[in-house]
Amino acid sequence: MQIQLETQPYASISADALVVCVFDREDKFEGVPGEINQTMEGRLKKLVDGGELTGRALELVLVHFPEGLAAEKLLLVGAGKPEKFGADDLRKIAGAALRYLKHRGVKTFAFITPKAENGPAAAQAVVEGLIAADFESDKYRTEKKPVREIRSVSLVGFDAGLGGDLNAAIEHGRVIAESQNFARDLINEPSNKLTPRMLAAKAEAMAKEVGLRIEILDERKIAELKMGALIGVAQGSIEPPRVIVIRYTPENPKQGGPVLGLIGKAVTFDTGGISIKPANNMEKMKYDMGGGATMLGAMRAIAYLKPSVPVIAVIPATENMPGGRAQKPGDVQVAMSGKTIEVINTDAEGRMILADGIFYARKLGCTHLIDAATLTGAIEVALANVHVGAFGTPREYLDRFLESAKSAGEKMWPMPIDDEYQEMIKSNVADIRNTGSGKGGGAITAAWFLKEFAEDTPWVHLDIASTCWVDEGRPWLAKGPTGVAIRAIVDFALKL
Ligand code: BES
Ligand code: ZN
Ligand code: ZN
Repeated sequence: MQIQLETQPYASISADALVVCVFDREDKFEGVPGEINQTMEGRLKKLVDGGELTGRALELVLVHFPEGLAAEKLLLVGAGKPEKFGADDLRKIAGAALRYLKHRGVKTFAFITPKAENGPAAAQAVVEGLIAADFESDKYRTEKKPVREIRSVSLVGFDAGLGGDLNAAIEHGRVIAESQNFARDLINEPSNKLTPRMLAAKAEAMAKEVGLRIEILDERKIAELKMGALIGVAQGSIEPPRVIVIRYTPENPKQGGPVLGLIGKAVTFDTGGISIKPANNMEKMKYDMGGGATMLGAMRAIAYLKPSVPVIAVIPATENMPGGRAQKPGDVQVAMSGKTIEVINTDAEGRMILADGIFYARKLGCTHLIDAATLTGAIEVALANVHVGAFGTPREYLDRFLESAKSAGEKMWPMPIDDEYQEMIKSNVADIRNTGSGKGGGAITAAWFLKEFAEDTPWVHLDIASTCWVDEGRPWLAKGPTGVAIRAIVDFALKL
């Protein structure tokens, strides 16, 4: 899909469609909608009077063969209340417009941005919305749906302002959204097509393409490093585990400056192990590598956008299977850090592989950590599929990350991590146990388990179990993997 700036007057753009935002306010015809209403001799006003056009957020009204416009179709998209309007809304509007038009056979369209949001940040958001909305996969269908393709989108009404660079913003948006789509492709893969070894191979191909250094730790190296928590999970499968380590180094790294560590859970399939999961919905556990894919997507974007700090991704990858050698409830594993873990439930495997991933990232010199994981069903109970659960210490570090999430337009909510919860992972036989002992707080005790390995290193933990995958499509995004958290993580890396 080509995306370019267009400066020609919108009325003479001969695209298949023209997209215009309409606000939900008294005068719906301020600006471009008003001009078009005039060229169309008041016909838009009839739609307003009839209640069909209200400007409510993401309302879509299609007008065929609009008089006075060179475009064949006019799509009016509701932009909601003007006082609440921002770049985030624009991202969704652009995505919803693309999906709507794509399914109606449109191949080219022009997007007119409203005056309220027309700078580089808005252009970036629109491009992100378009490219993420364009993603849909039917890789494993032999009878393909008819090819529908948006070939070109023109961006109209943007203004760089003082010192701004619209083309750079467009490029930035493209890198981010394509990196999200790269991660979404991985998350979609079934576990027989994406074992830990295959994931490592795909990570290698990506790193090579974008010029990042990569090292794959195999089962021998993992044993040598004494990653006992990861090995404990992996031993139930005949597929050997891998740890993917990717390094980004800036041109002139500051001596003694921060080094960002990105740790992602990549369980390529989670059966639960001996504490086996029920059959219902178990197929969804192919996306239990979503945290790892998130970090791979983030590294891809980082390679292009070149933050000034070094970044190291550490992605432990394994299956969680109930094989003859599988770990059993009651087993004690010794993590790489030396801490001992009583395995109460083999289905709480994500925190175990992250324990070694987090500790290893610190050993490699990471001074600041972010982990992402489809860690607990409990986070869905707390936040549904709306917010990512964000944990972290110290609080100022978490708050800085939440600022990035906000500016990237990703909903994340700070979760508590008070000392009382630490009590709940104390074990009778080992240093810690891998599930909480009390009732409730499952996402928090899981986070506390991770903190046992992050210790005092500034650390953020993102529980994306309920946001990494959506069962129902949204107007601006297909159902399936969302690519959540990548925008926030990349924004944070660029600002660190
Ligand atoms: N991979 C799951 C968490 C999950 C659940 C991800 C639903 C996506 C959707 C994780 O490994 C798990 O099984 N967690 C258990 C922990 C429990 C045994 C303490 C859970 O949340 O039930
Ligand atoms: Zn599990
Ligand atoms: Zn899991």
